[in-house]
Amino acid sequence: MHLGPAPASNIAMRYSLFASLLAVLVFAKLIMAAEPTDVVPAALHAVLKKNVGYARNLLDQKDFKSVAQSAGNMHLVAELLKARSDDVAWQATTANVVAATNRLQSAARDEDAAKCQAALEAIEKATVATAGLQPNGKPQPLERAPAIRSVMLTLDAMQGDAKVAVLTGNVPAARSQAHVLAELGKLVSSSRKTDQWSSLAGDFVSAATAAADSTESDSKIVRQQFRAVAERCEACHEKNRTP
Ligand code: HEC
Repeated sequence: MHLGPAPASNIAMRYSLFASLLAVLVFAKLIMAAEPTDVVPAALHAVLKKNVGYARNLLDQKDFKSVAQSAGNMHLVAELLKARSDDVAWQATTANVVAATNRLQSAARDEDAAKCQAALEAIEKATVATAGLQPNGKPQPLERAPAIRSVMLTLDAMQGDAKVAVLTGNVPAARSQAHVLAELGKLVSSSRKTDQWSSLAGDFVSAATAAADSTESDSKIVRQQFRAVAERCEACHEKNRTP
């Protein structure tokens, strides 16, 4: 045991060790803070925003049937957003998005253009409000499992937008779409319990996740990743869809 004052050099060494340890800790904390914790909400926001634009165009053309379908897509995306976290602020704010998509859907069914406009504005406002929040709690399952057909129609629309994004070389938009495809794929996966279904749906989720998380910028590889996703849609349809 060392009694009495430590030699100066020893103190200096200990101090510098301590200082560098502290620096490492502070640095690690900074990196952790800078890292986006959950990229899925941003992808869901992007998709909602894009669909508000689509619905406005459809409304200008008085195509209420398509507005209703677009509202259905936004509804499912809003439910996914809400399910990211169980904390009170997140739940309350995202519930406004969900409610506004419901209002849009019924206004479109009633062919009420003014109410459609109002609902679209409400969706936009509520989406902006959630963009300022962090989902701080635990993810939770959807309140009600959606019908498989409505998930498919939304998947189809998301897949269409992903294709356009890939073809026009908009890789970030394509990745956003892939994140949403993966989340929808998880809903598909939990909708039936057979081994074959789990495996086909699981393959789809893996392909979509790989496309979403990739950092590849080579357009040829990006195209391949998205082709792999489309192949997983077809693989499941071959086995499960009655023509
Ligand atoms: C794990 C299985 C599975 C995967 C993966 C899957 N589907 Fe489906 N899909 C189905 C089944 C089953 C149906 C029939 C649903 C019904 O009508 O009840 C279907 C139906 C559809 C329909 C017809 C909906 C209608 O009735 O008008 C479309 C469109 C569709 N899927 C698109 C897609 C797209 C796009 C993808 C991939 C991005 C995909 N699906 C991935 C199983 C799957």
